[in-house]
Amino acid sequence: MASISKMKALHYDGPFKVSIKEIDIPKIQHPDDCIIKVTTSCICGSDLHMYQGRTAAESGLVFGHENMGVVIETGPGVTLLKKGSRIVLPFNVACGRCSNCETGKTAFCTHVNPGFAGGAYGYVAMGPYQGGQAQYLRVPYADFNALILPEGTEHEADFALLADIFPTGWHGVSLSGFQPGETIAVFGAGPVGLMAAYSAILRGASNVYVVDQVKERLEAAKKIGGVPINFTEGDPVEQIIKLNGGMVDRAVDAVGYQAVDKGGSKEQPNIVLDQLIMVTRPTGGLGIPGLYVPADPGAPDEQSGKGQILISFGKLFEKGLTLGTGQCNVKSYNRYLRDLIISGRAKPSFVVSHEVDLDNAVEAYDKFDRRVDGYTKVLLHPNGPLS
Ligand SMILES: NC(=O)c1ccc[n+]([C@@H]2O[C@H](COP(=O)([O-])OP(=O)(O)OC[C@H]3O[C@@H](n4cnc5c(N)ncnc54)[C@H](O)[C@@H]3O)[C@@H](O)[C@H]2O)c1
Ligand SMILES: [Zn+2]
Ligand SMILES: [Zn+2]
Repeated sequence: MASISKMKALHYDGPFKVSIKEIDIPKIQHPDDCIIKVTTSCICGSDLHMYQGRTAAESGLVFGHENMGVVIETGPGVTLLKKGSRIVLPFNVACGRCSNCETGKTAFCTHVNPGFAGGAYGYVAMGPYQGGQAQYLRVPYADFNALILPEGTEHEADFALLADIFPTGWHGVSLSGFQPGETIAVFGAGPVGLMAAYSAILRGASNVYVVDQVKERLEAAKKIGGVPINFTEGDPVEQIIKLNGGMVDRAVDAVGYQAVDKGGSKEQPNIVLDQLIMVTRPTGGLGIPGLYVPADPGAPDEQSGKGQILISFGKLFEKGLTLGTGQCNVKSYNRYLRDLIISGRAKPSFVVSHEVDLDNAVEAYDKFDRRVDGYTKVLLHPNGPLS
């Protein structure tokens, strides 16, 4: 370490522009910090909101909130982690000692990002934590935030998905109030939607409908046992009700505010939320992990620009639906999901389409953003391929 002080990191330069730059390797800033050498950092659909200039992200931000690696240095307050520990980090940065953290709501930590509930690595408005799409990363409150993994390189791609999308998909299903045996419709077959569908299948759903328009993504949903629904081929609510013989018990929004209309290209921020309300049976439940923002500089209309989304609230009330939303409290799930991976009962890496080094990240952002060439989930290996 003493001889090297610079590392490569992916920088946001402005809308649709990222580049690899040399910056200082992060240092321990607090006794509870550790530094990891990043073995894998994933690109997320959430990064695309920033990439497209649809947030207040400023140029210079280093992206990367889905991080795993090996500890190379620990602060004097760190006791559980050692040099060489292989760890995966929830995308949430959390303190472990505020009232939300104490009750397991680590996505809403009130300590790490004053004035806002919740912190994350490399994300706009989520606190001063540099992202991990870089060779090294500083981890605050390291003992609390790290999930320790078996040493070596086994299950790298599966474990990397514990940072965000596997727990987030699972969370979406939990937010909907899902019980084994029930039917569920998942809107969006991106990584989060596919993980929600996969979680529902692991948890004993009787039927899982997965709505999208991207062919490769719908095929992936079918492969794991979902029923693909292409929303450009007819109203997805009608398609599901027909196939299911009635409304479903639960529905998950894994699309968020950049949802597009039935034509497949024009944004309509309320469409999925409204379809969730229509497709779910009275007293059923909605899980909404898809992201909605309080202000959207690129919104298609003035109201959505202020984060005000027009939904059929009267119908929701009439049906007595319950709903849950918000960022995923990754720590509530990741330990158990890790153990499902180790025991061989879960293999979420089926969703991974590309694994590349940092030099190919710029191209990966472009293609993932355009959803071309089968780019579904990209894993970056900033220190080169794993041996
Ligand atoms: N709550 C959390 O903690 C959390 C964590 C990670 C991601 N997210 C959010 O979850 C959402 C999904 O993430 P992702 O990585 O899968 O993103 P993604 O952009 O890869 O996937 C979204 C999918 O939705 C599809 N889609 C668009 N309009 C649709 C419509 N009308 N009906 C059905 N499908 C439609 C798109 O074709 C795409 O495949 C994003 O909003 C992301 O920010 C939330
Ligand atoms: Zn993510
Ligand atoms: Zn906290």
